[in-house]
Amino acid sequence: MKPSIIFSSLLIIFLIFTATATISGYTFKAITPNFSATYLEFIDDSGTFLISPNGTFKAAIFNPGSQQTSFYLCIIHVASRTITWSANRGRAVSSSGQMNLTVKGITISDESGRNNPVWSTPPLRSQVGRLVLTDMGNLLLLDPSNVSLWESFRYPTDTIIIGQSLPVGSSLSSSSSDSDLSIGSYNLTITSSDAILQWLGQTYWKLSMDTKAYRNSLSMVEYMAVNRTGFYLFGSNGTVAVFLVGLPESNFRVATLDNSGHFVIKSFSSGTGWKQEFQGPDDGCGTPLVCGRVGLCNDDDTSSSSSSSSSSSLPVCSCPQNFHVGSGNSGGCVPSNGSYSFPYSCDGSNNDSYHNNNQSNSSSSVVSFLNLGNGLDYFHNIYTDPVMDSVDLSLCQDQCSKNCSCLGVFYRNSSGSCYVIENELGSILSSNDGANQDMFGFIKVSIGSTTTNDDTRDVEDGGGGFPVVAAVLLPITGFALLMAFLFFLWRRSIKISKRKQDLELGKPNNNYSHSSGDLDAFYIPGGGGGHNSSSSSTSGLLYFPLLALEKHEEGNYMDLADPRLEGRVTNEEVEKLVRIALCCVHEEPALRPNMAAVVGMLEGGMPLPQPKMESLNFLRFYGRRFTEASMIIEENNDNEGGRREVNNNSSSSMTSGGSQAALVSYISSQTVSGPR
Ligand SMILES: *[C@@H]1O[C@H](CO)[C@@H](O)[C@H](O)[C@H]1NC(C)=O
Ligand SMILES: *[C@@H]1O[C@H](CO)[C@@H](O)[C@H](O)[C@H]1NC(C)=O
Ligand SMILES: *[C@@H]1O[C@H](CO)[C@@H](O)[C@H](O)[C@H]1NC(C)=O
Ligand SMILES: *[C@@H]1O[C@H](CO)[C@@H](O)[C@H](O)[C@H]1NC(C)=O
Ligand SMILES: *[C@@H]1O[C@H](CO)[C@@H](O)[C@H](O)[C@H]1NC(C)=O
Ligand SMILES: *[C@@H]1O[C@H](CO)[C@@H](O)[C@H](O)[C@H]1NC(C)=O
Ligand SMILES: *[C@@H]1O[C@H](CO)[C@@H](O)[C@H](O)[C@H]1NC(C)=O
Ligand SMILES: *[C@@H]1O[C@H](CO)[C@@H](O)[C@H](O)[C@H]1NC(C)=O
Ligand SMILES: *[C@@H]1O[C@H](CO)[C@@H](O)[C@H](O)[C@H]1NC(C)=O
Ligand SMILES: *[C@@H]1O[C@H](CO)[C@@H](O)[C@H](O)[C@H]1NC(C)=O
Ligand SMILES: *[C@@H]1O[C@H](CO)[C@@H](O)[C@H](O)[C@H]1NC(C)=O
Ligand SMILES: *[C@@H]1O[C@H](CO)[C@@H](O)[C@H](O)[C@H]1NC(C)=O
Repeated sequence: MKPSIIFSSLLIIFLIFTATATISGYTFKAITPNFSATYLEFIDDSGTFLISPNGTFKAAIFNPGSQQTSFYLCIIHVASRTITWSANRGRAVSSSGQMNLTVKGITISDESGRNNPVWSTPPLRSQVGRLVLTDMGNLLLLDPSNVSLWESFRYPTDTIIIGQSLPVGSSLSSSSSDSDLSIGSYNLTITSSDAILQWLGQTYWKLSMDTKAYRNSLSMVEYMAVNRTGFYLFGSNGTVAVFLVGLPESNFRVATLDNSGHFVIKSFSSGTGWKQEFQGPDDGCGTPLVCGRVGLCNDDDTSSSSSSSSSSSLPVCSCPQNFHVGSGNSGGCVPSNGSYSFPYSCDGSNNDSYHNNNQSNSSSSVVSFLNLGNGLDYFHNIYTDPVMDSVDLSLCQDQCSKNCSCLGVFYRNSSGSCYVIENELGSILSSNDGANQDMFGFIKVSIGSTTTNDDTRDVEDGGGGFPVVAAVLLPITGFALLMAFLFFLWRRSIKISKRKQDLELGKPNNNYSHSSGDLDAFYIPGGGGGHNSSSSSTSGLLYFPLLALEKHEEGNYMDLADPRLEGRVTNEEVEKLVRIALCCVHEEPALRPNMAAVVGMLEGGMPLPQPKMESLNFLRFYGRRFTEASMIIEENNDNEGGRREVNNNSSSSMTSGGSQAALVSYISSQTVSGPR
């Protein structure tokens, strides 16, 4: 039987691979030294040079997110196109980067430094006989008598899969983004009693405190694993499950720390796609940067329980008092008074240390604290003890002023407890339920308008209490219109060129108008349609531009096309539209193509643009919350009773009635944007 018959149900890319690979004579099941591979050599197979015996996994020199600058040696689950492991995640190579297999192991090097590999396997006990990729997704170096010398399963990146385990003391580290696999700022670490999520050293979740995990034993934890029926922290050499989460049976399941900081367990089946089974933290405000730096996150489940009881509440972001929305890529809030700026942390992690090594001495006199108000909390406080108890606020602040690694304090009035924020500022939690009424937050600022990380564009944006939601309106309405418009233009250009061809061939103008309904060709989830279709959505609803961005990063454009179109558009056609449309919503207007360029790209005369992720990240920041904002507007229109009276005094919240007029007026001024 030919391999292509066996695999015929798999992806087209894979089919192409088997064809070409058969021609070029590589075996799929093992590679022996001396072997080398580059992306360009295997470009027809998206860089794939090795495939597991039954085709479930492949190894490739791969560029996630279709960008053209960063290539990684990856193991990919073929059916779901999921990267389960990458070798050189910290140091990407270019498209000419090379993977070499010698008897000493694997090296990856860039063209400029062939003798200076960016990544290599550690020194091995004996010479390599073969490189194999198993059907479980494990890449193995075997010696000539088939003894394992090295295996990728022992070096997890951000994901573990069935068959793999994460031992105590080791961690998963998130990737920076879907297209940049370098190490991001979130960590999942296994300790002898727990699994802990941290952001730059600040804890924001523990498995032991998650109500969905069942504690089965008090034994010491030895490793974390998933199998076909559950997720476990095992102890006593795998004989006891210390913690367990039972899950429906599935053949492919990943436990992954995603780049938003969520620890997610999900399963995949080719029929139904991804199904998310577990998420920690699960509440909308649970991740450290959900509302950006110093953004105030309110998931408000007390007031929504009366009507819409959606399973996990969606967060609403605003800025606390004395702060307003910053404009930089980082999102989040900056001091309203331009004379204040965030001090640089002396912690080396963000490499600003050179700025103020002597800050504790020289500038302690010019720091101040901005009051965020009360009824607040910080995620780390829940998992840590206060640095001092029974002190008064001024002592708490003094302590922070003196220490350059301290960026803010939280102070509980009733107990005199002093908590500090170190290294980096995350989002602030706000609760309306009264539980934290006596918790006050203060953020340390330097006085004197030094250059801050967030640039000074606030002024031209209108400054003041610019509501977060305004920035969202262009994407949601504009983007859908834009896609429809581009699709229309593209159809026309096809018709025209088709007619030209027909004329040249002397054919009659057979009417090419099977497409009266083509304008609804794109499926627009978000407004309520797409609950179960969005694969990587973390909080259920996604709106279209964000979905388009995610699909772009996955390279999986067909998900965006209307299923009713089946077969009438190709992935490349949808890709073209999505890439152009994404470029048209770049945050910087100067980076958007002009109309002539758009037409040129649609007709194929101009090369397709590569959307700039830096300019699109704002979609991620706002994406999950637009739906929430629009739901609130509807809700308020429906029952004018004014049930909702949130954030009465403390902030420039976008849910407060007053900002809605502003909000509507922003729609009209922003939606006209698009191509320049
Ligand atoms: C692989 O290359 C090394 C160095 O170029 C050479 O010494 C060795 O004989 C080669 N091995 C095989 C199996 O071709
Ligand atoms: C990789 O292999 C190629 C061809 O076998 C060789 O020219 C190149 O020098 C090798 N690179 C390294 C880093 O060993
Ligand atoms: C391939 O092998 C794996 C592991 O043995 C198995 O779970 C999977 O079902 C197999 N896939 C196919 C398509 O045969
Ligand atoms: C190693 O495994 C391969 C494939 O299973 C087999 O063909 C080969 O005979 C084995 N070699 C030894 C020394 O066992
Ligand atoms: C994540 O954990 C690894 C291993 O413990 C550590 O080297 C790394 O610094 C941690 N990263 C962050 C951002 O905490
Ligand atoms: C998964 O692991 C648990 C705990 O060891 C075990 O009881 C269960 O049978 C395993 N499931 C499968 C499908 O192997
Ligand atoms: C755990 O089990 C493995 C095999 O199942 C055994 O080799 C090992 O010695 C055991 N370790 C301990 C600490 O019991
Ligand atoms: C901003 O802060 C400076 C320094 O504390 C103060 O002098 C100034 O009045 C403040 N400006 C406003 C508008 O509050
Ligand atoms: C940190 O910044 C300094 C000064 O710009 C620079 O020399 C140094 O290489 C940077 N270190 C890292 C690890 O980026
Ligand atoms: C910090 O201050 C000390 C003494 O005041 C000085 O010797 C040192 O060079 C300063 N360091 C930096 C990085 O400015
Ligand atoms: C640093 O602090 C010491 C003691 O607090 C003080 O005597 C000295 O003048 C300070 N130096 C500067 C440059 O402010
Ligand atoms: C600054 O604060 C951190 C954390 O609270 C602490 O570890 C460190 O020792 C403090 N440094 C000084 C100079 O007090």
